[in-house]
Amino acid sequence: MKKQPAAADKSTDGMVDYGRHSVAQQQLVDVMAGRIRQLTERLGLVEPELKIMDYGCGPGPSAINAVKPAIQAYRARYPDAPIAVCHADQPGNDWNALFKLAAGPSGYLAGATNLRSGAAVGSFYQQMAAAGSVALGTSFYASQWLSQAVRLNAPGAIWFADLTGSARDELAALASRDWARFLRCRAVELRPGGFFLLSTLGAVADASEVNGAAASGRGIYRAMQRVTQDMAREGAIDPQVLDHFVFGLWFLTAEEARRPLEDDPQLAEAFEIEHIGVAPAAQNPDDLFAHAIGDPAEYARLYTGHTRAFAHATLMAQVFTPSTANAAEAERLAENFYDRLQALYWQDLAKYACELWYVTVVLRRR
Ligand SMILES: C[S@@+](CC[C@H](N)C(=O)[O-])C[C@H]1O[C@@H](n2cnc3c(N)ncnc32)[C@H](O)[C@@H]1O
Repeated sequence: MKKQPAAADKSTDGMVDYGRHSVAQQQLVDVMAGRIRQLTERLGLVEPELKIMDYGCGPGPSAINAVKPAIQAYRARYPDAPIAVCHADQPGNDWNALFKLAAGPSGYLAGATNLRSGAAVGSFYQQMAAAGSVALGTSFYASQWLSQAVRLNAPGAIWFADLTGSARDELAALASRDWARFLRCRAVELRPGGFFLLSTLGAVADASEVNGAAASGRGIYRAMQRVTQDMAREGAIDPQVLDHFVFGLWFLTAEEARRPLEDDPQLAEAFEIEHIGVAPAAQNPDDLFAHAIGDPAEYARLYTGHTRAFAHATLMAQVFTPSTANAAEAERLAENFYDRLQALYWQDLAKYACELWYVTVVLRRR
């Protein structure tokens, strides 16, 4: 007997091997370090304390590197002023791994004075900090996850960029509501004069795409689409399950990012827009794994690890488990899927290249 899909599952719970397979995330946060420093310097002295909050922090090195530049910049100017760091994520985040890193040799806790570190556990689609308390908010590689898992009648498409008709309209409406909701929560939490910096997977105009925009990582989703469709055709994956499966993701264009900040009177009043733009990744924008292209086996291994790290929880909950009778079968199906994906990446190499465009938003709370 086949199980029903778990519609309410949080698709990002339990990310796999995050530290090892988050090269792109780490590169993005590293590129943002200069901006984080500049924004912190522009804040001046913040009383009673500088509160830094990173939304969708994850468990890995980028959670540390998102806050370290702010701590360093503030300490350089105010050696004794109090700092509060808050890492915000969902309950399923690996909090032990994160605070071990924070206290380790590359962390920020050892030897720190007048610095408190803590966590906010919940959803960034709700308020996660006291009103007017956050001086610097950041969010990297996180807000592309929508507020809920998605189930739509969408045969032949597993992600937003390939949806058409009413399925696309439905997901677009959810994404637009979620983005406005995310911003409204930050408007409440930021103190006047505070900054919010967000950067994550974005999309750029491309007339050759069905929806007129090329979205980051399109090769990954098309490779997964091909493998899942083959498996459905062979009966390994339930075709009904696959026809209704769509990742709960949306990658904003610059225009989509800007829209509620201009059109929603509450948001337009709350925020001054300092910057909104979409740009290619600073390193290997046409293929995240270009450095390994000369070694196809390594290329395929790295690419599969990257895919698995963000997609596994979603696929397990929404595709493999509902296609099988028990957990052991679901695990076997998952392994079969990753083996096939790895073989496809190996065989076709750059055909499914991971292209990256990032949308970056810098706001100041009025
Ligand atoms: C790809 S990871 C990025 C983590 C980290 N910022 C980085 O750059 O490596 C996405 C993170 O967003 C978190 N996330 C997704 N939806 C969320 C939500 N609604 N509220 C809070 N965190 C969320 C996930 O749990 C995950 O840790």
